[in-house]
Amino acid sequence: MNSFSPPPPHPSGETAPAIDRSALPQHLALVMDGNGRWANERNLPRTEGHRAGERALMDVVAGAIDLGIPYVSAYAFSTENWKRSPSEVAFLMNFTGDVMARQLPTFQEWGIRVRWAGRRPRLWGSVIKRLETAEEQTRDNDVITLTMCVNYGGRAEIADAAAAMARDARAGVLKPGSITEDTVQRYLDEPQLPDVDMFLRSSGEQRLSNFMLWQSAYAEMTFLDVLWPDMDRRVLWRAVQDYVDRDRRYGGAVDRSSEGEDQ
Ligand code: IPE
Ligand code: IPE
Ligand code: MG
Repeated sequence: MNSFSPPPPHPSGETAPAIDRSALPQHLALVMDGNGRWANERNLPRTEGHRAGERALMDVVAGAIDLGIPYVSAYAFSTENWKRSPSEVAFLMNFTGDVMARQLPTFQEWGIRVRWAGRRPRLWGSVIKRLETAEEQTRDNDVITLTMCVNYGGRAEIADAAAAMARDARAGVLKPGSITEDTVQRYLDEPQLPDVDMFLRSSGEQRLSNFMLWQSAYAEMTFLDVLWPDMDRRVLWRAVQDYVDRDRRYGGAVDRSSEGEDQ
């Protein structure tokens, strides 16, 4: 039997709104954006913004646990982020590895199962090692699944799935004529991840930046004018309350023209 502790309450004393589990997003995707601007606004180097973002991530994950959200995916480094200065890239590589090691005791305490999604080539070996150690050591945790997306790109993930399907088709283990959407899903990096219900991006930018393209086909988009280091679980809770009020139709429609008439 695993015994996990709930995260400590938010310092403000505010507690999570009671939302029926069936109404909650099952999968929350986070684009943790705005670290550099947060730092530069304070006359600090961009890297200080990344440092400040670690607390925000852990508090938002705490808030997701408080609510009962089962899957959170966090965009930590994109396949496009290699375009940044060599010093920022090196910082982000070291920092990501350090966060995984530093937060491992908390992952264990709160029952967080860590997964890594992203491409292996080019990613620093030291980062891969710490991501894989976290995956291995937290594999039996079952409070929440936190997928760290590092060297992740939505198009890369779909292209890699297509390449793997082509290899299997040539090897005779996959029939091209039988490929469906479910087949593609099975070839993704993390096939067991459910569709993204709520796609949340901080910093005011309103774009996907190549995150979870396949999984977000019907995601509800939430763009917040808050820089990532200023995020906390209370902001998440308010955003989830807005999400709950949305009408998700998935292409369907209900004709309400005769409402109120006798049937
Ligand atoms: C997001 O913050 C973190 C990463 C991309 C790693 P940014 O570094 O993009 O910060 P801004 O958007 O430039 O402010
Ligand atoms: C997306 O943010 C990537 C991560 C948060 C890791 P970026 O800051 O890299 O995206 P753009 O450049 O604004 O599209
Ligand atoms: Mg950015």
